[in-house]
Amino acid sequence: MNNQQNLLVWYQENKRDLPWRNTQNPYHIWISEVILQQTRVAQGLPYFLRFMEKFPDVFSMANAPEDEILKLWQGLGYYSRARNMHSSAKLIAEVHQGVFPNTFNQLVKLKGIGPYTAAAIASFAFKEPVAVVDGNVARVLSRFYALETAFQTPAGKKLFSELAQEFLNKSEPDMHNQAIMELGALVCTPTNPNCLICPLQSNCLAFIQQKQSQFPVRITKNPPKKRYIAYFHFESNGKTALFKRPKGGIWQHLYDFPYLESEFPLTDEDWFSQAHLKNWFEPKQAVTKVLEKKHVLSHQHLYVSFYLVQTEKIKELQFGEFWKANEELHQLGIPRLLDSYFEKLKEIYPELIS
Ligand code: ADE
Ligand code: SF4
Repeated sequence: MNNQQNLLVWYQENKRDLPWRNTQNPYHIWISEVILQQTRVAQGLPYFLRFMEKFPDVFSMANAPEDEILKLWQGLGYYSRARNMHSSAKLIAEVHQGVFPNTFNQLVKLKGIGPYTAAAIASFAFKEPVAVVDGNVARVLSRFYALETAFQTPAGKKLFSELAQEFLNKSEPDMHNQAIMELGALVCTPTNPNCLICPLQSNCLAFIQQKQSQFPVRITKNPPKKRYIAYFHFESNGKTALFKRPKGGIWQHLYDFPYLESEFPLTDEDWFSQAHLKNWFEPKQAVTKVLEKKHVLSHQHLYVSFYLVQTEKIKELQFGEFWKANEELHQLGIPRLLDSYFEKLKEIYPELIS
């Protein structure tokens, strides 16, 4: 027997008895799929039964006030799903006279029905040979074909749906789709798949190579960029040097200290000699290291050192700086990173900053 046949035999013997499996009614199948996108089978089952009792057909749902639908939906979350379901029920009742659209292409045009739900309804109710790809199916496929592409990427979406379509048993698409979903739910589980009882075992590439745990592959995020920054707080007779960050970049229009930057870690002395080269202060001048801090942004990690440089006389730093009175600082928009510096500064020099 081939893979598809093995899968169907396994399904007939092992499937869970679920109410939406004993019907070809597209309305029932649709409602079950919408609920099961929100929750697991065990939690979804009582919702499905309540919906069927209250709204046994598409007309009763179409004629119900939205509040009643939302009330029954309560606890499933993501209420726009329920609203979309209601609006599609109205369209089917009023425009299609209650006759359910019966092809994938028509179904996928309805509000709230995406490719997955359209394929589920078209195949389960109308035996159209279109493959479903949900999370369970994607996991089975990724292992069976040892796929190195992540399902979540655009290329992955395309690849998985092509392979699912190729693998589909075209003469029994309804059973095949249910079966592969059930295999993902019961056997080819996220951790510790039970390969020894799996009907696909003999041709499963992940099993053959004993690499089940390496699939499905995840999207590899770019590691955050590391930046090393030395901030200098120039303070002179109650005034502090700041510049206004330019438009467009990070922290635009906020006030910031003059700073130096490096792609690798530097010592205090390295930073100071760079600052001397810029003529920011003289080699003999006293500098206090106030704080070292790691600051995490979405795509970068900043490793920041804060140095305090106090001078008698205001010096032009050629940084486009403004000299702001220390009492004014708390009114200016500054990056949050500088807040932690000022807090630390207050501990060490309570008289310096009010
Ligand atoms: N999850 C989503 N659709 C399902 C279905 N038809 N049967 C079992 N689990 C499901
Ligand atoms: Fe999944 Fe194992 Fe079956 Fe392969 S053999 S499809 S990894 S359960």
